[in-house]
Amino acid sequence: MDDGADDETFPHLLAPGRIGSMELRNRIVMSPMETMYGTPEGHPSDRTVAHFATRAAGGVGLVTGGATGIDPLHPETPGGLQIGEDAAVSAHRRLVEAIHDHGARIQPQIVHAGPDGLGPEMFGATSLGPSVIPSYLTGRPSAEVTKEQISAILDLYRAAVVRVREAGYDGLELHAAHGYMFLGSFLAPQRNRRGDRYRGSSVEGRIRVVLEALEAIRSEVGPDFPITLRISGYERVAAGRPIHDTATIAPLLVEAGVDAFHVSGGVIDRLVTGMVNAADDGDGLNVGGAAAVKEAVDVPVIAVGRLHDPLLAERVLADGRADFVALGRPLLADPDLPRKLAGWGGGAVRVRRCISCENCIDTLEEKLSTECAVNPLTGHELELSAVVPEAPAAAVSRRVVVVGAGPAGLEVARLASSLGHSVTVLERSATVGGSLVDASFVHRENRPYLDWIRHEVGLSDAEVRTGVRATPELVAGLAPDLVVVATGGREELPAIPGSDLPHVMPSLAADVVPAGRRVVVVGGRLAAVEYAETLAAGGRLVALLCTGEEIAPEFGLKRRTEHMDRLDRLGVTVHVSCVVEEITPAGVRYVPANGRSRELPADTVVLTGEMVADPSLAEALTDALPGVAVHVVGDAAHGLGLIRGATSDAARLVATL
Ligand SMILES: Cc1cc2nc3c(=O)[nH]c(=O)nc-3n(C[C@H](O)[C@H](O)[C@H](O)COP(=O)(O)O)c2cc1C
Ligand code: SF4
Repeated sequence: MDDGADDETFPHLLAPGRIGSMELRNRIVMSPMETMYGTPEGHPSDRTVAHFATRAAGGVGLVTGGATGIDPLHPETPGGLQIGEDAAVSAHRRLVEAIHDHGARIQPQIVHAGPDGLGPEMFGATSLGPSVIPSYLTGRPSAEVTKEQISAILDLYRAAVVRVREAGYDGLELHAAHGYMFLGSFLAPQRNRRGDRYRGSSVEGRIRVVLEALEAIRSEVGPDFPITLRISGYERVAAGRPIHDTATIAPLLVEAGVDAFHVSGGVIDRLVTGMVNAADDGDGLNVGGAAAVKEAVDVPVIAVGRLHDPLLAERVLADGRADFVALGRPLLADPDLPRKLAGWGGGAVRVRRCISCENCIDTLEEKLSTECAVNPLTGHELELSAVVPEAPAAAVSRRVVVVGAGPAGLEVARLASSLGHSVTVLERSATVGGSLVDASFVHRENRPYLDWIRHEVGLSDAEVRTGVRATPELVAGLAPDLVVVATGGREELPAIPGSDLPHVMPSLAADVVPAGRRVVVVGGRLAAVEYAETLAAGGRLVALLCTGEEIAPEFGLKRRTEHMDRLDRLGVTVHVSCVVEEITPAGVRYVPANGRSRELPADTVVLTGEMVADPSLAEALTDALPGVAVHVVGDAAHGLGLIRGATSDAARLVATL
């Protein structure tokens, strides 16, 4: 049987589908993702509309908006959407129309924040949970909701879904997944400690409020309005719902009016560990939960979670494990993924894959807005409209010389060339990719990005010359209108006595295998951490000595915690805030935090340092090329900026050309 999953065609993903009365052009759903781009009142902003419209233009069948509150007094996040008041309807309608203009359908993910909202912090309103339980986000305890208050919340659902219809949405997703918010907390026995008819200890008790919410919603929207229920197939938590629970309750939920199940997994915590899964959790991890529901009911089932490889997503559908797939991060990384699978713009090989760096989650906390490391346009579609994929060519074609073929230089070359500028890239080494080459060796999810950017630049009109030193004379000879220096940062190594001993490797070279079994890595930035992990995975006994207070400080808490988990699994010993006194022939003499000087044995010591800005070439070129603008991007400009700094600098610069 030709199931279409072995070659690069995607007949199942691209087949039209249906959820209740809603016809869909394909089987790809955009998973709900909080962006925090909304207005302060929680209405969709111009930025929200541009973000979702870009995904609709990219060919997705059904857009699900991020969690959309039904009670403005209990927002989940500042800038999160709500549809809890009539004043919100016109802004939602604008969003809906923008999506329809591109032939996609759209539904909001409606939610009452229950015990997990910011009502107490933002409005002094007490949050309400099934029991007195701490908010997963703030730790502040909720009050136990009374029967009268449950009734009032059901009224909020009723009022909200009327607005959902008025705004023109094609359906709605009711959020009951991840053991949080109002419905999810009732479903979670470890949070629902009630003893009444809503008790968490029995199946009937914990789903009662979900059934009541469905009844309330159906009473307003009638039998034909499509309702998807988002639920965790398996919650993977001690004393939580058992693995068979979702399939057991699914028929009851269909009877109550569910038109489709969107089967996620896990329960929430502050770092969304179980809901937005790390690479180490494995791909397609919720597919079993989705398939179990599909085996129990006749309505469509949507699978989600690390279906980042389109071939895997196609296989899930071809195997009959689900009817639709929902993609989250893959559509932040490449909004055009669906239409590329259908052949647009060069086809599936042009899809830019998510690298599982978790920047999109970490920026929610750090910047109160989601951003994507590999796609600098995510959330900046309006301000960077000059460099979006189908942007018109620049009015004047300029001669651009890019020095350095790392991530920043290649992204400049790719974007500038797509706008019709004439680009020459000069790279000193024999290979293209710069720091991405080592980064791909120690974090394998970076590899598809390296391959992608090499391929994209290869397809472009940019000329790449490797093995070339960009002297001022050479650059001047190319008569550029503009020079972009993207040569990377300079590593400043710590001055430690004994650094010149023969068993010291004075920098990271990801592909060099150190001698001996015991390795001490001195330094704590991400590259050192990932290198330590790679060595330990290869069987070395590794210690990480970090003089700063934190390992991988350049990353946010979610990504950093994923590394802590991995270091732990691999048995790497980690010390922070220590003083490295000396490297000896037998190891490293150091003072651990709060301790006394001692020696750690090592066959090899790997020294790593700080990555600092290196504007020296830019200065030389500025002197040698009067009248020519010289720009510096990426690590050469700011020191360590990672892929996200490189792509963002590149897009912002090219947008001004
Ligand atoms: C930035 C971001 C925001 C998210 N916000 C929500 C949300 O509002 N509601 C929800 O149910 N899931 C949310 N999720 C989870 C996704 O819908 C999805 O289940 C998860 O990312 C796994 O899918 P993926 O591996 O395709 O990214 C969010 C995920 C991300 C990355
Ligand atoms: S920020 Fe990183 S994890 Fe998030 S979508 Fe982009 S590449 Fe993927």
